[in-house]
Amino acid sequence: MLTPLAAQPTAITDFFKEAGFTHEQFKRNPTLRDLPSGRLGNLSDLTERTSEPTALNILLRWFFLGLPLGSEAFAGLIPAPVVAQLVETGMLVPDAGRYVPKVMLTPCDGFLFAADPARTLETPEASGMVLWPNPSTRLLQMFTIRRPTTAMLDLGAGCGILAVLAAGHCRQVVASDLNPRATEFARFNVWLNGVNNVECVTGDTFAPVEGRRFDLIASNPPFFVTPSADQIYCENSMELDGYCRELIRAAPRYLNEGGFLQITLEWVEVKGQSWRDRLAEWLADTGCDAWVLRSYTRSAAAYAAERIGRMMPYSPLTENQRFDEWMAYYRALGVEEVQGGIMALRRRSGSNWIRIEEVASLDCTEPFGDSVVELFANQDRLESERSDDRMMAWKPRLPADVRIDQQLHLDDGEWKPSAMQLRRPGGLPTALALDPQVAEFLRKCDGTRTLDELGERLAAEVKVDAGQVRQQCCAVVRKLVERRLLLL
Ligand SMILES: C[S@@+](CC[C@H](N)C(=O)[O-])C[C@H]1O[C@@H](n2cnc3c(N)ncnc32)[C@H](O)[C@@H]1O
Repeated sequence: MLTPLAAQPTAITDFFKEAGFTHEQFKRNPTLRDLPSGRLGNLSDLTERTSEPTALNILLRWFFLGLPLGSEAFAGLIPAPVVAQLVETGMLVPDAGRYVPKVMLTPCDGFLFAADPARTLETPEASGMVLWPNPSTRLLQMFTIRRPTTAMLDLGAGCGILAVLAAGHCRQVVASDLNPRATEFARFNVWLNGVNNVECVTGDTFAPVEGRRFDLIASNPPFFVTPSADQIYCENSMELDGYCRELIRAAPRYLNEGGFLQITLEWVEVKGQSWRDRLAEWLADTGCDAWVLRSYTRSAAAYAAERIGRMMPYSPLTENQRFDEWMAYYRALGVEEVQGGIMALRRRSGSNWIRIEEVASLDCTEPFGDSVVELFANQDRLESERSDDRMMAWKPRLPADVRIDQQLHLDDGEWKPSAMQLRRPGGLPTALALDPQVAEFLRKCDGTRTLDELGERLAAEVKVDAGQVRQQCCAVVRKLVERRLLLL
């Protein structure tokens, strides 16, 4: 049982920071790249790597590796008042002369999050466990639009990471989860991070917030596509990807006009229906604009092997038995592939648009919420001003952070330019191949000239019919605006 104290958590959090138990340290230190695992056998290696008697190593052994320590191990390294508070909160429990850690602590940006110890994944307790910040949390964190708003919902909040992070830019935040243990962790983390505008509630999907509306709903839901529903942190009781579908279709009722739902998700491709058509069916008549980015795809067999082996290690069945069970399920329902990615849905009255894109991978280390806002604004213009005539008044502007990469090839003993690529690295990287003529045209797109003027000038330069040049300019500009390589 975790207990937030009446006192501020600063004695604990300041000490952790001073000791170097920080996000920066976790990123830098190779010891902290892999989660401690008894099953995969890295625990003895991690124990060895944390053997030097320092305050940081003690904290790592307790709250990362999950090792009990006797007082002789930490005497002189961890101040008594800090140990006393760790015990008072229930994060450490004295037992037969040793101090046993009950949580794993993960630093995330300037915050600290308590969750179940990593090795719970390998035990029967995995069914009700509360997850620590993991790669899909991080992806959603990077993806989330961070602008000042009134009301935010973190749906399936787990230990409350996204809610705590949103508390800085949203006036009222709700962290909601089906698992009461998650609510307990979220409440504790709200205290641990000194936040006072997050309400933590328990219940199924939107039930705890019935009748309320939000400007932002962020959700990293239990989206694994599995035949069972035993592990609450990643599984749900609906067929295949049904939970994500239901969540997406219900969300608009809980969004204010202009409000966003942002989720991580997986969905399937079944025999006779492409994955794009499946998504389009989910997104029809929602009263929302939608942007989907598919970032991975796996055959049913590859998906089952990966999930069973690496992400859901605990089961009374053997891996082979589970694999057979999963494949029988997929075969019965015609599942050929599983797709994964992110989706943003914006509630908007009027005629809505849907855009579905693909990237080879989505390994974002910088926030890209601003790119999402930009993308929605661009798409609005593209949809509402479809005709070339309307586009003539646009004043396209090349963003300051775009770059051109050029490849050279050896030709008769000389380096000659060949392929060119326009790139915008940013939070959500984007790129497009282009030819030198377009590169030259883009140089003049500084936001002061209309497309009409730019087209006319280009037509005079290349001595081609102005109508034809304008048409080509519109096609190019449209493509570049779609990919955020030109702004309007
Ligand atoms: C993948 S975890 C995400 C946790 C956290 N938001 C994060 O990003 O790390 C999914 C969370 O959804 C919760 N959950 C599962 N089914 C749910 C439901 N029907 N309604 C609300 N939450 C649910 C789980 O308990 C779990 O905490």
